[in-house]
Amino acid sequence: MAIISSQNSPSEQSRPPSLLSNQPTREEQHSPAEESLRPRSLQEYIGQQELKEVLHIAIEAAKARQEPLDHLLLYGPPGLGKTTVALILAAEMGVNCKVTSAPALERPRDIVGLLVNLQEGDILFIDEIHRLSRMTEELLYPAMEDFYLDLTVGKQQTARTRRLKLNPFTLVGATTRAGALTSPLRDRFGLVQRLRFYHPEELQQIVQRGAALLQTPITPEAALEIGRRSRGTPRIALRLLKRVRDYADVKHDGRISLEVAIAALELFNVDPAGLDWSDRRLLSLMIESYQGGPVGIETLAAATGEDVQTIEEVYEPYLLQMGYLQRTPRGRVATPRAWQHLGYTPPENQLPLLSSRPYNPSSSTPTA
Ligand code: ADE
Repeated sequence: MAIISSQNSPSEQSRPPSLLSNQPTREEQHSPAEESLRPRSLQEYIGQQELKEVLHIAIEAAKARQEPLDHLLLYGPPGLGKTTVALILAAEMGVNCKVTSAPALERPRDIVGLLVNLQEGDILFIDEIHRLSRMTEELLYPAMEDFYLDLTVGKQQTARTRRLKLNPFTLVGATTRAGALTSPLRDRFGLVQRLRFYHPEELQQIVQRGAALLQTPITPEAALEIGRRSRGTPRIALRLLKRVRDYADVKHDGRISLEVAIAALELFNVDPAGLDWSDRRLLSLMIESYQGGPVGIETLAAATGEDVQTIEEVYEPYLLQMGYLQRTPRGRVATPRAWQHLGYTPPENQLPLLSSRPYNPSSSTPTA
């Protein structure tokens, strides 16, 4: 696999490091140890049943026809394994996978360099594909459709267009914001699949698999507890597993029991619902200073010292998904569920205003 480059957005750069962040840390992006935890085949891949079935059929059909796979667009929240899916597809098809992200493809020649070096059937994985520049995106249209590039050579009067044939390849695009893709780009993907948040039981299996690879004994109850606190996200589950393993090594005999897992997660400030100190501070502020809301996002930003974008992109998606927070036309409101979770009694008059949604990973929408 070739990782070309990756760049964080301004809001990611200013984001406080948190155990519960759904963005990969620098270490997670580049470490071989991290690579060793990735599943390598569809059979090893836990969860996303519907996606696996669709991909299994696509793989078998493409192999039978001896053709490359159709272009595939994967969308959904960060940390759910879009890169992993692309690497599995390459392994299953017996081809190479080049991994890059849209911010690394600033100049048109960046994408040209990648495309001309692809061999027949290879996979090109572009993360954050909604952030491609217009020129790069337009180069991709004929490349995806008919496997050629139209390049302009020379300048002004001497400028001419040269057509360059490419080997047939598969583009796997990933995005957290399917709605931000232009329709000409979206329409060129034969397969469009959403990744959903994982259920606690699926994360339990992922934690057990990770612990086995790390040669760390763990009980099923402890793995489930870590799964429950991982915000539906394998990247977070594996990160928590590693921190709990450190705790078990230093404070105990290296084995992770339920008691050890709970003690470690409490020490790291990850509560039973997967909320951390910042989430709880936001909700407590809404409850204590604004009677639960409605309160404007600007006011919340000023009161917490966070910027609006961080509140919207980092804290809110999970709080919304869990039914702890609602967006109303008059501002943000902490739901009765949030009051109860933090040990407060919700006021009677707030109950008819809101319907507290139970947590349902399947109904989650991508963070926009
Ligand atoms: N590690 C990270 N995501 C995984 C998944 N879906 N299945 C198995 N192991 C994983």
